[in-house]
Amino acid sequence: MTDQAISHTSRIPGFHKLPVAQRIDHVAAFANLAEEHRRQLALPSNIDTVLADHMIENMVTTIAIPVGIATNMRVDGRDVLVPMATEESSVVAAVGNAARQCYEAGGFTTSMSGTEMIAQIQLLGLPDPARARLIILERRLEIERICNACDPTLVSLGGGFRDLEVRRVETPSGEMLITHIIVDTRDAMGANAVNSMAERLAPDLAAWTGGRALLRILSNLADRRVVRARATWPSAAIGGAEVRDAMIAAYQFADNDPYRAATHNKGIMNGVSAVVLATGNDTRAVESGAHAFAARTGRYRSLTSWEITAAGDLAGTIELPLAVGLVGGAVKIHPTARALLAILQVKTASDLARIIAAVGLAQNFGAMKALATEGIQRGHMSLHAQNVAFAVGAVGDEVAEVARCIVARSTINEAAAAAALAELRRAAP
Ligand code: MEV
Repeated sequence: MTDQAISHTSRIPGFHKLPVAQRIDHVAAFANLAEEHRRQLALPSNIDTVLADHMIENMVTTIAIPVGIATNMRVDGRDVLVPMATEESSVVAAVGNAARQCYEAGGFTTSMSGTEMIAQIQLLGLPDPARARLIILERRLEIERICNACDPTLVSLGGGFRDLEVRRVETPSGEMLITHIIVDTRDAMGANAVNSMAERLAPDLAAWTGGRALLRILSNLADRRVVRARATWPSAAIGGAEVRDAMIAAYQFADNDPYRAATHNKGIMNGVSAVVLATGNDTRAVESGAHAFAARTGRYRSLTSWEITAAGDLAGTIELPLAVGLVGGAVKIHPTARALLAILQVKTASDLARIIAAVGLAQNFGAMKALATEGIQRGHMSLHAQNVAFAVGAVGDEVAEVARCIVARSTINEAAAAAALAELRRAAP
């Protein structure tokens, strides 16, 4: 099909049936893409086009995000190299630096509440919600049988139905009855397993109670999959009592002010999401769970807490839900995610979650220390300056030279970088 034949419309019936190359043609013609952009979309990546095309709908290309390795991490007595996928400079370095400063003191110690996921079934129009609640609770054994029959493989691996909760929820359109089925999904993130169970169970709940079942879906507030990590940073290793006390004040600011807590937790998620993404897990599920958990008291607070130990050192802890898996979904089929998981040498989803929590804590340490001392811009900007140098066309050694020049002049923007590049080229022999 020629570009001319492709009209300027987003209505493209059968787009999903076209070969990937023709999808690119369509998009390129629609957006009048320059040839260099079209060529870029068609570049192969480290995921096979056929596989990528099976993973999502209407696939046209892939976008590569750098993966860095966080060093110095010691989690539960084991040294680990942690792959982190992120487009943001300083994130990987901050984790390695934070981990170095607590390595000699033992690194990170973790625990996990379990690997249980919650699925919710919403019942509406109940004549007697209180009675309906008891009717459902009385059928626990039958519910267990129905849920487990949905996934015999999970049961054979030691997972399956664990518990039942039925909550009455007042809403502007009347009272609703919300049934939680709690399922141990073991090494799977578990969305598919619990969603299938909820869909299978819903008609029975409706029939038993005389209500109408509407939504049947997991909750991302995975508060039965909570991971905790702690570490102690010796006061001497972090620059002394002044730095320590400034970091405590930084933490208290976050824990008591939602405007600051949002940024503080964003920094934590810089680390958490980077490992979640590198291992092919669902970043959005983890992020929504973490933020909902941070607000569980009714006020949005810090996901970490920091205190001074009896010996005068700085002790940090993190607690957040982490619904990640080692089997199923992209984790199973994305070859790069599999290779990166292999670096971590984890045997269970809990082992992975523990490392991710430790990374979140390290990331928070790094951000708080920078903010409470020299500020974030100095470290951030030298890497950012290299990106700006790239953006204005610097190549090879020019990148470092232009970056150095604009950092020294304290004007890190494209205009300054372009000027520095021009000067550099004029001065070149
Ligand atoms: C930037 O991506 C993350 C920080 O803003 C986190 C924080 O403020 O704690 C530096």
